[in-house]
Amino acid sequence: MSTIETKETARTTNSKLLEWVESAVALCKPDQVYWCNGSQEEYDHLCEQMVASGTFIRLNEAKRPNSFLCRSDPGDVARVEDSTYICSRRSEDAGPTNNWMAPDVMKAKLTALFDGCMRGRTMYVIPFSMGPIGSHIAHIGVEVTDSPYVVVNMRIMTRMGQKVLDVLGEDGSFVPCLHSVGAPLGDGRKDVSWPCNAEHKYIVHFPEERSIWSFGSGYGGNALLGKKCFALRIASTMARDEGWMAEHMLILGVEDPKGNKTYVAAAFPSACGKTNFAMLIPPEHFSDHKIWTIGDDIAWIKPGGDGRLYAINPEYGFFGVAPGTSYKSNPNAMESCRENSIFTNVALTDDGDVWWEGMTDAPPAHLIDWKGQDWTPDCGRPSSHANARFTAPAGQCPTIDPAWEDPNGVPISAFIFGGRRMTKVPLVFQAFNWSHGVYIASTMGSEMTAAAAGTLGKVRRDPFAMLPFCGYHMADYFNHWLNIGRHIPNPPRIFHVNWFRKDKDGNFMWPGFGENMRVLKWIVDRVHGGAYAVESPVGWMPRYEDLELNGLDFGFEKFSEVMEVDREAWKEEVLSHEELFLKLYDKLPKEFLHEFHLLLSRLTRSPNLWQHHQKMID
Ligand code: GTP
Ligand code: SPV
Ligand code: MN
Repeated sequence: MSTIETKETARTTNSKLLEWVESAVALCKPDQVYWCNGSQEEYDHLCEQMVASGTFIRLNEAKRPNSFLCRSDPGDVARVEDSTYICSRRSEDAGPTNNWMAPDVMKAKLTALFDGCMRGRTMYVIPFSMGPIGSHIAHIGVEVTDSPYVVVNMRIMTRMGQKVLDVLGEDGSFVPCLHSVGAPLGDGRKDVSWPCNAEHKYIVHFPEERSIWSFGSGYGGNALLGKKCFALRIASTMARDEGWMAEHMLILGVEDPKGNKTYVAAAFPSACGKTNFAMLIPPEHFSDHKIWTIGDDIAWIKPGGDGRLYAINPEYGFFGVAPGTSYKSNPNAMESCRENSIFTNVALTDDGDVWWEGMTDAPPAHLIDWKGQDWTPDCGRPSSHANARFTAPAGQCPTIDPAWEDPNGVPISAFIFGGRRMTKVPLVFQAFNWSHGVYIASTMGSEMTAAAAGTLGKVRRDPFAMLPFCGYHMADYFNHWLNIGRHIPNPPRIFHVNWFRKDKDGNFMWPGFGENMRVLKWIVDRVHGGAYAVESPVGWMPRYEDLELNGLDFGFEKFSEVMEVDREAWKEEVLSHEELFLKLYDKLPKEFLHEFHLLLSRLTRSPNLWQHHQKMID
């Protein structure tokens, strides 16, 4: 059976895969089954089919070649953390930060929902590799879905098709990923341009059997199961068991004027600037430095034989936040989605191109907004959804690192953590050592954005930017990080940054974006033992003269303000650390209690050497 009769469909002799697909067919009862081979012809055909059905709008070929606009259902626009479950056998293995249900109870619930859920639709079988095909750090998954939108997005976001089945072979193992939008046809039900299930959404992980079941949503991380579900939630449990790391991190390389490259990985929560930082363009003063991009969202990291940590980007494309992306803020992202891209929930211009808030200084006089309605600048509504995204091939990024597909990965010299913090948290500081760094990352906070159900803007603890993505008990994850550091001779240095501190008038104090190069340069120099730092209560900090601020209007006073550590305010911060620890107490590493008290005593008793140095210059 095949919907694409002109094409040779993909073939496999892997009996586990054949059996699993057969059981999925028996359960979901699709009209047809199609095995994706990953070819351009197949991609084009599916896009055409979606244009015909009204799901896709082909963009102006001259302005945005081979690209499409898609509008989702307004009720299906982001990950749904409330409906995301880790169904380990024991609830204490999922931990208090994950939703949990007993696997058999959840399976029964899901089986009822999936029963006949693909009636009237085609089931697509998508074999994909997370990581360069055949890399010893890579892993294979197979997603079964009734969404052609998922198929074409997966072809951009992963290495996909026959070549993956070839590597899988007769008895290779894979992570089964079952997905349905949960909108069967028939009985007089008509199809819509974005089918989904308004009533039931479940994003479910079974860590022991390493499988994923996702029902009811067609959007992003809910539906492109290679990304958050596999590459973070399932992979983090695999990594714990096998001694590696699966992280919500970008990877970039800093090339100095002599051609030496230093790679760093950085974890910022969702919509907190990973894509921007990964594609940073140095300001003029640093034009002899170059930033290379390896990945913008996920890193898989493995200890190498030489005792260093090696990282790959398991993805093949970018699923980036559109609003705020412009030729000013991120030219590399704009170039990446110049062609061969899919845009979801952005606005359509009168000449058949896309637009979103922040793309240009002045908005077009007329648009069709993300809901398909007429839009003018004075209508009082945003034209694009805040979590509107572009799907673009990573290979199209002008700064993509020549080593981005190296199966061995790149060596990581520093880890950088940072949330969105309007107050309290300085622009940059360095951990005193590995366990202090793990403490800093574990207690990281950030103001909430689109996918979290809580109050927008409220600070929540988001350890390692992994709160919605850790597939097991968060405190076990902290222990895993401590353990990794114990087993390598010279672990990467750990830093914390905050681009988002605001002044009394509510303006960002730090210019950010390309100017973040100045902070990155200090970090890289620290790693190589070449930059000065002074001890503060929260960590090592640069003095005014230690950050290269030439060519930027950023005087001593502004610097002091953006670096300030207010001891009283930090005591409140420490209380919220305690709140997190109470939640995780049963498995909390004992180092953390000592780190907690050391931080408290530094805040209350120790002289602030950093402030002292600042005063001497003053
Ligand atoms: P996910 O793809 O959701 O994991 O997120 P991401 O971390 O890749 O988010 P992204 O880079 O798309 O974050 C975009 C948001 O961060 C926008 O609101 C940007 O304006 C903001 N942003 C990025 N870099 C900076 C910066 O240096 N300073 C400030 N003030 N904002 C920044
Ligand atoms: C995130 O929310 O961190 C994302 C987008 O990267 S999604 O893939 O939809 O989860
Ligand atoms: Mn992300």
